[in-house]
Amino acid sequence: MNQKVLFITGAASGIGRCTCRLFGQNGYAIAFNDYNQENGNALLQELKGAGVSAIYLPGDVTDEKTVNEMVAQCLETYGRIDVVINNAGGLGGRSKIDEMSTEFYNHVMDLNMTSAFYVTRAAVPALKKAGAEHGNASLINITSIAAYNGGGPGASVYAAAKAAILGWSKGLAKELISSGIRVNLISPGTIDTPFHSATAREIVESWKNQIPAGRLGQPEEVANVLEFLVSKKASYLVGEVVQINGGQMMD
Ligand code: NAI
Repeated sequence: MNQKVLFITGAASGIGRCTCRLFGQNGYAIAFNDYNQENGNALLQELKGAGVSAIYLPGDVTDEKTVNEMVAQCLETYGRIDVVINNAGGLGGRSKIDEMSTEFYNHVMDLNMTSAFYVTRAAVPALKKAGAEHGNASLINITSIAAYNGGGPGASVYAAAKAAILGWSKGLAKELISSGIRVNLISPGTIDTPFHSATAREIVESWKNQIPAGRLGQPEEVANVLEFLVSKKASYLVGEVVQINGGQMMD
């Protein structure tokens, strides 16, 4: 098939959901993952209702076997992957170092770093095929403002995982560009999604005071950057990090 295919994880909410909508409007077939089946099925219905070719891949991205099966299922259905967005991630709770369990540490690292490794390793052969075909395959990882500033209270491991994915992606960018795969990152600041649902709304609202733009970001504003990053307009962007934070931090 000639239609380009997006493979995206953790995509039934927030940034991922908006990205599926936008890429679907742009003619991509969408293979999206999320372990929240209610939201996943709802997004699948929505995309199909909008005439988008889509498959929903339920499952936990921290499980290696599940990830391998999801990538295989995508290839069985569509036969190709042109863009991978390792979007699944989250705080996984908050914990101070002197109270932190090993399970907590491992979970936050697994969710925000190791899952991207599993997905990327499984999808790279397909990305290389796409790169050889049209020279513009893309892998995008999601770091965070937390990678630079250490994160909010109890989010030190989240910050570490997002810093790990930043360095790893730059290494991959060098390794994969000769195969026609551009690896880039986005680094969102404070985007108004269910990511912050465990934090009281008045606290979330108060963060606006620290943001020069005077407001939180919207997930659509992140999806728009992803659209640009995978396009040929970004053909010389390799190993780049795009900060999307309303001026909250300028690197
Ligand atoms: P969100 O919480 O709205 O969406 C995350 C999705 O990932 C949810 O649908 C959830 O069910 C899914 N998910 C979580 N764990 C999973 C697992 N183990 N397997 C499969 N699916 C799983 O979050 P949002 O805001 O859309 O975040 C997307 C990415 O952006 C994440 O990597 C996050 O760390 C990053 N980010 C978000 C920021 C924000 O302010 N919203 C700031 C900086 C980075």
